[in-house]
Amino acid sequence: MNAPLKRIVPPAIRARKGGEPIVCLTSYAASTTRLIDPHVDLILVGDSLAMTIYGMESTVGVTVDTMIAHGRAVANAANHACVVVDLPFGSYEESPAQAFRTAARVMAETGCAAVKLEGGIEMAETIRFLSARGVPVMAHIGLTPQSVNALGGYGVRGRNPEEAAAILADAIAVDEAGAFSVVIEKTTESLSREITQRIAAPTIGIGASVACDGQILVIDDVIGLFTAFRPKFVKRYAEVAQPIAAAAQAYAAEVRARAFPGPEHVFGP
Ligand code: KIV
Repeated sequence: MNAPLKRIVPPAIRARKGGEPIVCLTSYAASTTRLIDPHVDLILVGDSLAMTIYGMESTVGVTVDTMIAHGRAVANAANHACVVVDLPFGSYEESPAQAFRTAARVMAETGCAAVKLEGGIEMAETIRFLSARGVPVMAHIGLTPQSVNALGGYGVRGRNPEEAAAILADAIAVDEAGAFSVVIEKTTESLSREITQRIAAPTIGIGASVACDGQILVIDDVIGLFTAFRPKFVKRYAEVAQPIAAAAQAYAAEVRARAFPGPEHVFGP
């Protein structure tokens, strides 16, 4: 029997700063994880599952239990990639101690290697607290979807100089606090480039240009499974929605016509 493959660890992701681009995708299930795991460096069990899996309007309603259920499914199936699980809204913002309790539970019950949380300067103390206690943290700045109600929408962040300066300050704060990587969402190319040049942790862009040290996309966007809308920063590498609908339609027609199951699917006497 082959020895199990060793998963990529957060320090190895951090060591990739400025090197070969870091390839990241989200996944929420064992089936998808098995398919993408050999090809990516990091798999994020993102709270974007609120929209992709649960049909919610935002990520605000996701619970820790839900993240743990999907995190466990992904971690069970991944042999190669570093698995990171999102801490959901309300489970970490109150205090570093609350964040540690949630992160420790998520890591213990899923088997993931790290957690991701949203926020900049205001979360720096928490990131320092967690990092010093064995919890590798991926930070998430720029557009932070858990704050959609406060931000007022999902628009590009950092277009004006004041906002750009605030996001750069966020990046420096989470970097100095010890984040092993920093997701930058939906910011201008010039800002993403400046952040990437200024901080020690690798930047992982989503709608943040090729200037970042790596890229992440939501798997359902990449394969064309999520069709409600397509953000400008998404590129589709497959279109699975139509084949899935066509398969269901063909199956339904054959069941109704009593053409399925056929003789080859039936057990003998
Ligand atoms: O929840 C998520 O999937 C994310 C990524 C899009 C970065 O946070």
